[in-house]
Parts: sequence; structure tokens; C-alpha cells
Amino acid sequence: MKNVPPEYKKNFGESFNRFKSNLDLHLKQAKGRFNKFAEAKKLQSGAEQGIDITLPGATRAPGIPHPLLKTMHEIVSVFHHLGYSTNLGPQVESDFYNFEALNFPPNHPARDTQDTLLIAAQHERPSRDRLLMRTHTSPVQIRTMIAQAPPIRIVIPGKVHRNDAADATHSPIFHQVEGLCVDTNITFSDLKGTLDHAMKALFGSDVKTRFFPSFFPFTEPSADVQISCIFCGGKGCRKCKHSGWIELLGCGMVDPAVFAAVTEERRKLDPTDDAYNPEKITGFAFGMGVERIAMIQHGISDIGHFYSGDMRFLEQFA
Ligand code: PHE
Repeated sequence: MKNVPPEYKKNFGESFNRFKSNLDLHLKQAKGRFNKFAEAKKLQSGAEQGIDITLPGATRAPGIPHPLLKTMHEIVSVFHHLGYSTNLGPQVESDFYNFEALNFPPNHPARDTQDTLLIAAQHERPSRDRLLMRTHTSPVQIRTMIAQAPPIRIVIPGKVHRNDAADATHSPIFHQVEGLCVDTNITFSDLKGTLDHAMKALFGSDVKTRFFPSFFPFTEPSADVQISCIFCGGKGCRKCKHSGWIELLGCGMVDPAVFAAVTEERRKLDPTDDAYNPEKITGFAFGMGVERIAMIQHGISDIGHFYSGDMRFLEQFA
């Protein structure tokens, strides 16, 4: 107290007293609990009787992160180490963010690849405002770009929904981690280098990656990324269907049509906005399924285990 400057003495004293009476209260409560326990055990806390410290203690199984969340966290942290930050978005999403701004026009057949669960009674609304369960985490790309100008480096973990029948590898609810990098001079080599690094960080430094031409409406060019089979080292086995490769994620360079949709929205707030001018700005995006990665990491053959709540399964990750 004697070292406290006079103008702080009053405040300091009050805080200290509050702390002290809190501490006293907690001590008293703890003592009360202890005495009750001791009485129940017919063990008065007399010094000569003491407590039998050889009795086994009451054990409580510690909680552990669910294996899916653990993998999700691992993926996210690989990108945090590369300087990415995290963004989240809603699971009930509008048609605009989930499809239209991502260059899936209304009624376009590309929508059929994402069998969508719709929210009821939306027919009265304009098509862009109709609500649905998001089929991927990509709508958060749009939300992020509308809200902030480049440079952007974000990862987006989250739950997604599709009208898929459940089987050993499908579930109507599953998880993705999306990534988006937008800046000047971002090239396909940056995309390759980033994902090659991420796959090595997740599966071990000797995995190889290869990029196959693919199609997504919101990336051009698009690619599927495969890693060399971690079960056979690429020689070919049952797990990789004897190809030596396992397909793991989708990616590509952000399609200028996406930048155009973002710009249109941003100009509603600032008509002069030019932050996403595709002449100056490029970017890449990627999306991966968390269940699929966790299944490969742990050699799990049925996706249903993740959701069963079966302790015999979960305890293996403790
Ligand atoms: N959103 C795509 C899907 O769910 C994956 C993806 C994300 C592809 C980002 C390219 C870029 O299938």
C-alpha cells in the first residue's frame, strides 16, 4: 500500500478488499464442502486420523476434441501459419451468396452438382433472396470480398448441407475448409505452392501433389488436387483404387465473373469502388472436405462413425 501513489490509494484499497472478501468466501465454501465430505466418510479432519491418501482418487474422464474438429483445427492452423485469418458465415444462406455471385446462374445445370436443401415457403421472394442450406463454404468468399478490399488471405471452416443419401462416404451434413487469397500478382504457381505445402503439412513431407483440370463455375482455370496415396506410397492399393493417387480437394483461380459480382455489390455502397478490378487483382480459392481428410488420416472407412456418438470410436482419439 505504501508504494501506491496517493491518487490511486482509494481505488486500490477497494479492489484489494473486494479480492480479499471473495477469497475468504471461496475458502469458506471449499472448507464447507470438504467437511461435509469428511463427515460422510466418517473421517473427521483431525490431525491424528488424517485422510487415507492410499485410497484411489475419484477419476473423471477428461474431454477431448471430436476427431472432426481436431482435423478441422489442424487444417486451419496450417494456413494460420501462412498468415491467413479465419472467417465464418451463416449455414442458412441466400441463393445469391451460395450460387449467383459464384457464377451459377439461375437454372444452370452446374447447380445440379450440389443437390440443395431449400428452406420452405420462399417462392414469393425474388430468386436471389431465397434461403437455402449452404451447400459449400464458398459463399463466405463473397461475403468477405464485399466487406473488405484486397489483400485477402482467409480460411473458412464450417458445416455444409446437401440433399445426399447417407452411405459410407456421404452424409447430408458435412464440413469443409475453404481458402481464399486475393492480391496483386497472385498466380497459379502460388496456388500450387500453397496447397503442396498444406498437403505436406497435413500428411507428411513425402506426399506428392498433382493438379488435374476440373470445373467449378467460380474458378477458371479449375483443378482437382490429388495426393500420392499415403497407404501404399503411390504403388497402388485398394484404398487408392490401384491408381497410386487420392483425390482430395477442388481449387482454381478466382473467375473474373466473381470479381464482377462482388464489384456490383460494393458499388451499391460506393459507386466508384474499383478494389476488385480483374486487370489489377487476381486470386485463388480452394475447398476441402474435412471428413474425407480425417478419414484418410485415421484410416476410417465409414463416415457415419463421426456422427454416431459411439464412445468405443471416440475414445480412440483420447
Ligand atoms: N466449393 C467447392 C465444392 O464444394 C469446392 C471449391 C472451393 C472449388 C473453392 C474451388 C474453389 O465443391
